[in-house]
Amino acid sequence: MQTSRQDVKAPVTGRDSPLRAVVLVGFMGAGKTSVGRELGQHLGWRFVDLDDRIQARERCTVAEIFRSSGEEEFRRAEHDALRELLNQVAGERLVIAVGGGAFARPENIALLEKSMAMTIFLDASADELWRRCGEDPAERPLRRDEVEFRQLYESRRARYLEAKVHIDTAGKQVSDIAKEIASSLRLKQSSGKEK
Ligand code: S3P
Repeated sequence: MQTSRQDVKAPVTGRDSPLRAVVLVGFMGAGKTSVGRELGQHLGWRFVDLDDRIQARERCTVAEIFRSSGEEEFRRAEHDALRELLNQVAGERLVIAVGGGAFARPENIALLEKSMAMTIFLDASADELWRRCGEDPAERPLRRDEVEFRQLYESRRARYLEAKVHIDTAGKQVSDIAKEIASSLRLKQSSGKEK
């Protein structure tokens, strides 16, 4: 991307900033929703949780979609909801948290690249993620068996590492993670670095 002198000086939240969407990716339990909400407040941007959008569009919970129609149907709903959301990005600025499987699907990665979203990988160890999900009452259809959970984590990690920014969340507070993301966005933008 060509960066003009004016773009280089523009703060990430400024009106002249070309950045329209920040998308948090990572495995179940990474903290995408809580960090996303905090980051949205910090930047003054609207926060959207993609799973909530899917549930509103489909009028049932993620777990119900998995149960009644299966994972492939959920992936279709997830892709449709993401496409619809990214079409709105031209008009406003969004912080988006996507479910753990969204950034593992090439069709979603292509959508995100096309919309020039800034993708942020929230990283943590499989042990930590398993533990965090256990403390969370949210029903997660793909968090049943610990061995399968770890295998899925390993199979997706290389994809997550393709995100533009990588943040280690171990031992950090949600508010500190949000601040770290905001400052890495400013740094990235002021260096004009694009992947
Ligand atoms: C999934 C993660 C969930 C949700 C669905 C599938 C996955 O979101 O989208 O249960 O494939 O990893 P969280 O990552 O917010 O738990």
